[in-house]
Amino acid sequence: MMRDEFLSIVAHDLANPMNAISLRATYMLGTAPAGAEGDPIRDSASKIQAGVQGMAVLLQDLDDVASIDSGQLRIRMQERSAETIVADLVDAFTPLCGETGVSLVGRAAALRLTCDPNRAKQALGNLVANALKFTPRGGTITIEAALSGDEVRFSVTDTGSGISPEACEHVFERYWRGKERDLTKGVGLGLYIAKSIVDAHGGKIWVDSTVGRGSTFSFTLPAA
Ligand SMILES: Nc1ncnc2c1ncn2[C@@H]1O[C@H](COP(=O)(O)OP(=O)(O)OP(=O)(O)O)[C@@H](O)[C@H]1O
Ligand SMILES: [Mg+2]
Repeated sequence: MMRDEFLSIVAHDLANPMNAISLRATYMLGTAPAGAEGDPIRDSASKIQAGVQGMAVLLQDLDDVASIDSGQLRIRMQERSAETIVADLVDAFTPLCGETGVSLVGRAAALRLTCDPNRAKQALGNLVANALKFTPRGGTITIEAALSGDEVRFSVTDTGSGISPEACEHVFERYWRGKERDLTKGVGLGLYIAKSIVDAHGGKIWVDSTVGRGSTFSFTLPAA
């Protein structure tokens, strides 16, 4: 069996037991006694759900990598406004940024582009997730969309740790992670998937970064 096939089968077969675990956790949440007596049960149930959610994201990433490596990443092109894509990302990440004390700003010009909207959001979301992971409390993340020639350029700027020039050469590689790998969660797939999505649209992706000041990840997609 090919590695891609194996990844894809594992990702699909784990969906059922994971749903079963999640359902039981929901049941625990609903039936735990009110008040202090039920608190430890509710706490455990929430942690189970967060764990299952994390596994679901990882499995989806592995399934995407299997599709990418077998040349079968599906892209369904549609026309969309850049403003909608940026607004959706801001909505999705505002609660998380609030929890970690990071400000999130969205700025989009009134532009239309041709892309697979879900994949475009996935690519942008992977960049924002990284920015969040590497930006300390009090920092700012800015998501932008602007016209650049006959393309729309999306960028995510953070005021986080920054990336060394040597590391910048590797960040888009599959399973590559920086030196801080023991401190942060992840397997090194987010940027590889983002790059593969952008490649499938015929766009470019790159990073500009200064250690200690922050990073800007940018990619282009075709304007409509
Ligand atoms: N905004 C950023 N600031 C600092 N370092 C970054 C940033 N984005 C990416 N990196 C570095 O690039 C590495 C690869 O990023 P990538 O998103 O591919 O993987 P990951 O975030 O470690 O794991 P995953 O995305 O699979 O959960 C990171 O581990 C980190 O070292
Ligand atoms: Mg990542």
